[in-house]
This record gives sequence, structure tokens and C-alpha cells, in this order.
Amino acid sequence: MKISWKTLAVLGMAMLLLSGAGAAVTFISKGQQSAYETSVLSLEGEIATGREIFNANCSTCHGTEANGWIGPNLHAIKGRKSDLAIVRQVTTGQTPPMPKFDLDERQMADLLSYLKSI
Ligand code: HEC
Repeated sequence: MKISWKTLAVLGMAMLLLSGAGAAVTFISKGQQSAYETSVLSLEGEIATGREIFNANCSTCHGTEANGWIGPNLHAIKGRKSDLAIVRQVTTGQTPPMPKFDLDERQMADLLSYLKSI
């Protein structure tokens, strides 16, 4: 069979589309840990700074002592959720009405340390 430029172009487009779909599937799949998450989990957070971040962003819903209000009591959260699950709870916004928070790695690590300390 004679392969024309047109055939090649169509094949090329098809391959591009397929690899795009592959990338999308990888992105959506939950098992994958993002670079952000890996970085947060590798940092040693500061509890005191985490408490300040909590008071500024979370206490309106979870209470100043994290005893619960609109959102649940967060004491002993580390017994209920993994570190990764806590990071995702805060950064992905998958449980409305809790919003998605844009914290940098260091802030998220500090917040995580605070949450694990209460
Ligand atoms: C607008 C209110 C609101 C704010 C602000 C908020 N949350 Fe929440 N949060 C909720 C609600 C409601 C839930 C319960 C969601 C669900 O699981 O259905 C929740 C759930 C959680 C959970 C899971 C609790 C469990 O027992 O599984 C964690 C952890 C959490 N929030 C942490 C935070 C942190 C940290 C912040 C600040 C960065 C924050 N939240 C800010 C409302 C809020």
C-alpha cells in the first residue's frame, strides 16, 4: 500500500489524540501522588505556624479550637485520615461547602503538623 502524506497526517493526529487521552487518564486517576503532595509530605511542618494558618482559614467553619461548627471536629483526625487524605481534603475542594485552599507546600506542611498535633 502506498502511504500518502495525508494518511501519515491522519495517523499522526490519531496518535496525538490517544496520547492526550492517556495523559488525561493519568491526571484523573486518584492513586497518583502529585509533585505538590510529595513535596508537602517530605517537609517537616511547624505546628505554631500551622495553628496561625488554621485560625486564619479554617476556624470560621471548624471552630477556633477545631472542636467543630459548620465543619466537623478535627481532633484526632490523624486517626481517621492519612496525611495524604488530609492534604487532598484541604487542596482539592471535593467536599463542598468546604472550599479549596491554595496553600504553598510549606504552609500545607505546617497546617498538616498542626492538625496532627490536636
Ligand atoms: C466553609 C466552611 C469550611 C472551611 C472554611 C473549612 N472547612 Fe474543612 N470541612 C468543612 C465541612 C462542611 C466538612 C465536611 C465535609 C464532608 O466530608 O462532607 C469539612 C471537612 C474537613 C476535614 C475532614 C474531616 C473528617 O472528619 O474527615 C478536614 C481534615 C478539614 N475539613 C480541614 C480543614 C482545614 C485544614 C481548613 C482550612 C484550611 C478547612 N477545613 C476549612 C467545612 C469547612
